[in-house]
Amino acid sequence: MKLAFIGIGNVGFAIANNLQQKGYEILVANDNPESDSVKKALDSNPLFSVLPLKEAVDMAEVIFLATPFKANEGILASLDFQGKPLVDCTNPVGPGISHGLESSISGAEQVQEWAASARVVKAFTIYGFENFSNPAYLKAKESPVMFFAGNDEKAKSKVAATISDSGFYAKDVGSLDQALHLEHMTLLWVKMVRRDGHHPNFMWRYLE
Ligand SMILES: NC(=O)c1ccc[n+]([C@@H]2O[C@H](COP(=O)([O-])OP(=O)(O)OC[C@H]3O[C@@H](n4cnc5c(N)ncnc54)[C@H](OP(=O)(O)O)[C@@H]3O)[C@@H](O)[C@H]2O)c1
Repeated sequence: MKLAFIGIGNVGFAIANNLQQKGYEILVANDNPESDSVKKALDSNPLFSVLPLKEAVDMAEVIFLATPFKANEGILASLDFQGKPLVDCTNPVGPGISHGLESSISGAEQVQEWAASARVVKAFTIYGFENFSNPAYLKAKESPVMFFAGNDEKAKSKVAATISDSGFYAKDVGSLDQALHLEHMTLLWVKMVRRDGHHPNFMWRYLE
């Protein structure tokens, strides 16, 4: 299956590199193939292809958005997603590691407004990028959880497959408005790890 990545920095590369090793075809979507992050990604994994944004979106079955939140409106405005799943991995972050939209609306719902032709699914955000390349722990009997949220069941089932193939337990937490709470989980993780020094490979597990 072809996956397009808009943004191939810390987050995009870790997810893409993991999924390429599981058999997915990775299309790096960037109009500037000479950008630093694209060159670095290709040096690390020459099996990625680079295509202009529109072309990559046209060819892919699922598109991942892993860009700085403030860049999203400009990037998404010109793209026609033809109803495909758009995985929102981005987070609006404000001063003092606060929610960048003051918790009035989730970043994912804002992304859905900007990318009206896509079916947005929030996923791959509740941890730092260190955990996206390989979430396996030798001593763990169960996989760490990856929560995801979205309004379209078909889109969610495609994204759930990429989450499971990445090595996580994929747990659907409901409709896209739940993304606000996932974004707060991200802020919790970021404050614990980046501010307070907890281990960057700490993750959560779902027990029922
Ligand atoms: N870092 C984490 O641990 C983490 C964890 C979860 C979620 N997130 C969220 O994930 C997103 C990406 O974070 P990151 O750490 O991966 O950032 P990063 O390493 O700085 O990578 C950003 C990527 O976005 C691309 N980009 C930037 N501006 C663009 C534009 N105007 N048009 C097209 N592409 C553009 C960059 O490409 P160029 O090289 O061409 O500029 C680069 O590939 C952010 O929203 C962040 O909040 C981060």
